[in-house]
Amino acid sequence: MSEEKVTILAIESSCDETAAAVVENGRNVLSSVISTQIALHKEYGGVVPEIASRKHIEKITSVVREALAMSGKEISECDAIAVTYGPGLVGSLLVGVAFAKSMAFAASKPLIGVHHIEGHIAANFIAHQELAPPFCCLVVSGGHTHLVVVKDYGEYEILGRTRDDAAGEAFDKVARAIGLGYPGGPKIDKLTRTEGNPLAIPFPQAKIEDAPYDFSFSGIKSAVLNYLNHAQMTGEEVNRADLAASFQHAVVSALVSKAILATKEHGFKTLAMAGGVAANSYLRAQMDAACKKEGISLYYPEPILCTDNAAMIGAAAYYEYKKGVRHGLDLNAMPNLKLGER
Ligand code: KG4
Ligand code: ZN
Repeated sequence: MSEEKVTILAIESSCDETAAAVVENGRNVLSSVISTQIALHKEYGGVVPEIASRKHIEKITSVVREALAMSGKEISECDAIAVTYGPGLVGSLLVGVAFAKSMAFAASKPLIGVHHIEGHIAANFIAHQELAPPFCCLVVSGGHTHLVVVKDYGEYEILGRTRDDAAGEAFDKVARAIGLGYPGGPKIDKLTRTEGNPLAIPFPQAKIEDAPYDFSFSGIKSAVLNYLNHAQMTGEEVNRADLAASFQHAVVSALVSKAILATKEHGFKTLAMAGGVAANSYLRAQMDAACKKEGISLYYPEPILCTDNAAMIGAAAYYEYKKGVRHGLDLNAMPNLKLGER
């Protein structure tokens, strides 16, 4: 059998991280560089799209150059250039897409456009060399909450999705409301690791008729805001750690129960988690415990591979490359690209 290696230079710029990586055969990361804009957006309490795209344009050349240098590969030694082309912030996506197209043109390399969420799922292939489809996957990021069956590499069946806020969005909005600032998810995670009673305040679980795998987080978010308003009006002191821990418990309970239900009802023994919220320690611990009880093998990448990075884009791109997927130099940014759409 041929031992030929496929080396892919991958670029990611869909939100507020400018990232580049060199990945071999989809699973072996030779280099991964992430330039985060967190400090820049902090003072606004969230990502400002125009500032994000301007920062990408400033950083992208040095980030790609560093990724190549760290990998020890020249661009001439890469077999393809991959780039996230959606979903995401259009101005941010355009920077990566235009840069990747120019590189592909100049170096005469094939171009592969990658779906950002497929990238998140593929981060699991880097973290777990033995993991292969089919399996169930809970995708929880700032913009998406999906329960999917990964039927094969690049083939998905969507079982459920959020009806309103994404899980990460709920974390960010609640963190802002209780004064923890941006980025909300990691702040709530950090605070509740040492403080707060997750059962202090019972928040409602959304029940969605006829859609057992769909999520809704806006009710929990509103309940937190109402709780804060009520405390302010009555002059009661709010225990921020209890509030954060109870909110997190409500969100995580919904994620765990639906992911386990979907995995069992579809006859899988393997569940993976992907996306920024999959870095959450409480979610990891609760899902670990539930999977152990149900005899389900649980996979999730290390936190740095859960949040936005380009290594995951290189992983997803490898399987596209193997299938013969190539994009033309007319590739455009697709801010609303759906999972499984090409
Ligand atoms: O996947 P990601 O980096 O970007 C998107 O594709 O959206 O996810 C970012 C989201 C943000 O909402 C952030 O607050 C959340 O993931 N997040 C976390 C944690 N780390 C990132 N949420 C909870 N706990 C964390 N440790
Ligand atoms: Zn992401």
